[in-house]
Amino acid sequence: MNSFKQNLKYISLVCLAVVFTQCKTKSEKATANSEQSEIQENTEALHISTSEFGKLPSGEKITKYQLTNKHGMEVAIINYGGVITNLKVPDKNGAIEDVVLGFDSLEDYLIPPPYFGAIIGRYGNRIAGGKFAIDGEEYTLAQNDGKNHLHGGNKGFDKVVWEVKPIQEKDYLALQLSYTSKDMEEGYPGNLKTIVTYTLDNTNTLKVAYEATTDKKTVVNLTQHSYFNLSGDFSKTILDHQIMINADAFLPVDSSLIPTGEFKDVAGTPFDFRSSKVIGKEINTENEQLERGLGYDHCWVLNNQNNGQQLAATAYDPESGRIMEVFTDEPGIQFYTGNFLDGTLPAKGGGTYAKRTGFCLETQHYPDSPNQKEFPSVELKPGETYKTETSFKFSTK
Ligand code: BGC
Repeated sequence: MNSFKQNLKYISLVCLAVVFTQCKTKSEKATANSEQSEIQENTEALHISTSEFGKLPSGEKITKYQLTNKHGMEVAIINYGGVITNLKVPDKNGAIEDVVLGFDSLEDYLIPPPYFGAIIGRYGNRIAGGKFAIDGEEYTLAQNDGKNHLHGGNKGFDKVVWEVKPIQEKDYLALQLSYTSKDMEEGYPGNLKTIVTYTLDNTNTLKVAYEATTDKKTVVNLTQHSYFNLSGDFSKTILDHQIMINADAFLPVDSSLIPTGEFKDVAGTPFDFRSSKVIGKEINTENEQLERGLGYDHCWVLNNQNNGQQLAATAYDPESGRIMEVFTDEPGIQFYTGNFLDGTLPAKGGGTYAKRTGFCLETQHYPDSPNQKEFPSVELKPGETYKTETSFKFSTK
């Protein structure tokens, strides 16, 4: 009798397990189907969707604009700082994953962050001592990086609310962001009208076009500060990525990361990325410049300057097969290997961002150009239009 009862118990347990497994398979199938229909929907057409991302302490609502192309590539941008919060691109097997560092919530962008994904202005990179002069008149800027000025000051373009105009055309989607920086805002002269246009097309290219005009002589150097990790896995470092930088020289820096003025040949140095090289290969070699930057944090002097759009750099992650090519008309590119990330900032989807879990390729004029007259000029005069463009093209191999 006892053994009959035990058998009955055993049979009931087996039946329960079978029913449970079937339910689970059904629900898994349902999720797969909904994912599938999302993919099908995405491949149907280019589209823009909007959602609320959060509220500023003032109560102002911040909107997230999500641009999706016909391959399912997605870029999400918020009107706070013009920040690219997400950039989802396919890997060699078609898996679409996020390849830029950022945060899940607006609050995290409000605590002085490392400029994740933001538009940088009025001046991308450093200005020595936070001072420069135009026609003999001296201007004083915030010293927000030791004694130097960095990325536009205490409230640069990464911390302002931009006006956004979404544009939908047959072959591309765009977001036109506008912001007028008032005369003497953050210490810079002139009312600067700025328009930054992000464009996503069906060739998996994200273009960033910058335009600005002023009513007083000023200096401008705008850039985009996305941190990339092409693996799509933010718990991994970027040290295995391969980088090519189309530059025969770079700008060595002093101990506060201001260029010394020398144009140094990359040949025979860890700064030689003329042929694709693994980032981690020489990053820890004994080298004064690497010690000053705590890794790579330097501006490269791009080849083929003043020649329109040129290939400036390529990044490749062999594991996912993702490739990113950077094209620009700028003379320089700051290659920064996330040396100041220290595992304290919360990562999207959980975890934290450890040192070197992202790299930046910031196209720009050279750091401290307002004080280094032999560098290409960053002055903008009334009546002129500042115009520059950078494209990030994604593919796989
Ligand atoms: C600079 C780094 C800086 C980082 C975040 C980069 O553009 O080159 O030195 O730490 O931005 O602020």
